[in-house]
Amino acid sequence: MELRGTAIPRLEWSGDCLTIGLFEDALELTGDLADLDQKLFGTLAELIAEFEFKGKEGSSVITRVGAGSPIRKVALVGLGKTEALKLDTLRRAAAAAARLAKKEKCKTLGISLPLWNGDAALSAQAMAEGIELALHQDTRFKSDSEDKGSKLERIELLSVGDQEAAITRARQICLGVILARELVSAPANIVTPITMAETAEAIAREYGLELEILEREDCEKLGMGAFLGVAQASDLPPKFIHLTYRPEGTARKKVAIVGKGLTFDSGGLNIKGAGSGIEMMKTDMGGAAAALGAAKAVGLIKPDVEVHFISAVTENMISGHAMHPGDILTASNGKTIEVNNTDAEGRLTLADALVFAEKLGVEAIVDLATLTGACIVALGDDIAGLWTEDDTLANQITQAAEQAGEKFWRMPMEEKYFEGMKSVVADMKNTGPRPGGAITAALFLKQFVKETPWAHLDIAGPVWTDKENGYSNPGGTGYPVRTLVNWILS
Ligand code: BES
Ligand code: MN
Ligand code: ZN
Repeated sequence: MELRGTAIPRLEWSGDCLTIGLFEDALELTGDLADLDQKLFGTLAELIAEFEFKGKEGSSVITRVGAGSPIRKVALVGLGKTEALKLDTLRRAAAAAARLAKKEKCKTLGISLPLWNGDAALSAQAMAEGIELALHQDTRFKSDSEDKGSKLERIELLSVGDQEAAITRARQICLGVILARELVSAPANIVTPITMAETAEAIAREYGLELEILEREDCEKLGMGAFLGVAQASDLPPKFIHLTYRPEGTARKKVAIVGKGLTFDSGGLNIKGAGSGIEMMKTDMGGAAAALGAAKAVGLIKPDVEVHFISAVTENMISGHAMHPGDILTASNGKTIEVNNTDAEGRLTLADALVFAEKLGVEAIVDLATLTGACIVALGDDIAGLWTEDDTLANQITQAAEQAGEKFWRMPMEEKYFEGMKSVVADMKNTGPRPGGAITAALFLKQFVKETPWAHLDIAGPVWTDKENGYSNPGGTGYPVRTLVNWILS
């Protein structure tokens, strides 16, 4: 499928389907839209009237145009209120246009949307992202694997001019998002610590990144008792992945991304029960998947920033070798942890990964993790939690996320709640009381970062969607690769 920007205005475009975005407070067909309506024998006016199209965000209508028209079908997508236009409105509208054209078996599609902030490049990039992501279908595990639905051959973004650079950027980012989606959607018998390491290796090879894989013995030497405690019941070897992107010339900044990488979380001996969603715990490597997705995008984009992508990858399993609830582990910074719940394993793996990241002398660390069910209870499926005590970092991430169309809500690092994690026998327990469970998880992680500006993202909710949602399709969403890439580039 070819995707390009063009200077052609909507009045002159011809092809299978023309899709026009309309604001709910500007539905009148004036100016060139009046001319277009006339050219289409009044089809636009009819479409609005007959379907009672109100321009509400997310709504869309389509109809055939009578014979003799250079356009076979015309569609309208709602943009909501003019003043509320966001970059993500364009991303979603373009996605809706592409979905509709695909469903209607169109070969060529022209999309006419307003610019966000008068910025043709950012607008075109957002539209291209929406299209690429909405059209991505993961059929790897279907025996009939052809994507039979799509006949789309060419999509043109009208009146934006030649936006090759912006569209290339969108493609690069989407390749990272799609990698993350596919890693998350694949089950735990396909994506294992070994295959995660192989994926990192492929990225390193293809895009010239440096790769260091620490095997169990290497982790032992570094004293990573917390990570290895989680890994000890699995029949698969743990893999500590450290992928480094170094720019040519001097780096403008040096940062680390740390992703939780549990390729399956059974809960351990505190095993997840019926109705706990244990069968979804293949998604528990969503943080690592997004880190690898971002690494791929960064490898393609080649910015002037040094980035370390880190994940302590393993499964949380049960066997005769499993951690006992109550075991005491020693992390690589010397702190001791009483494991009062083996199902709070992500924070144990992250503890050693954060200590490792800080030793690299980076300017900032961002970790991302499907860390707690409590975060889903607090913020629902579409919003991730953001914890940081560094306001500059908080603002950077908030801005990167806004541009990416990914939602985060800043949560409190309420020091007092750490009292709930006090242990009689060790420096701390790994879980506190149920209330504020996402906050105590963040406070636990904090014990493993000394002085580097650090942010924690709990992505347990948005990492997966059961239904079509904007430009996401059912399955892994690839969240928050776009935010990470924007933040790295900022
Ligand atoms: N991977 C889970 C968190 C999770 C739950 C992610 C549901 C996605 C959907 C994590 O390892 C976990 O089990 N957390 C426990 C912590 C508890 C034992 C303190 C939880 O959230 O229940
Ligand atoms: Mn768990
Ligand atoms: Zn987990």
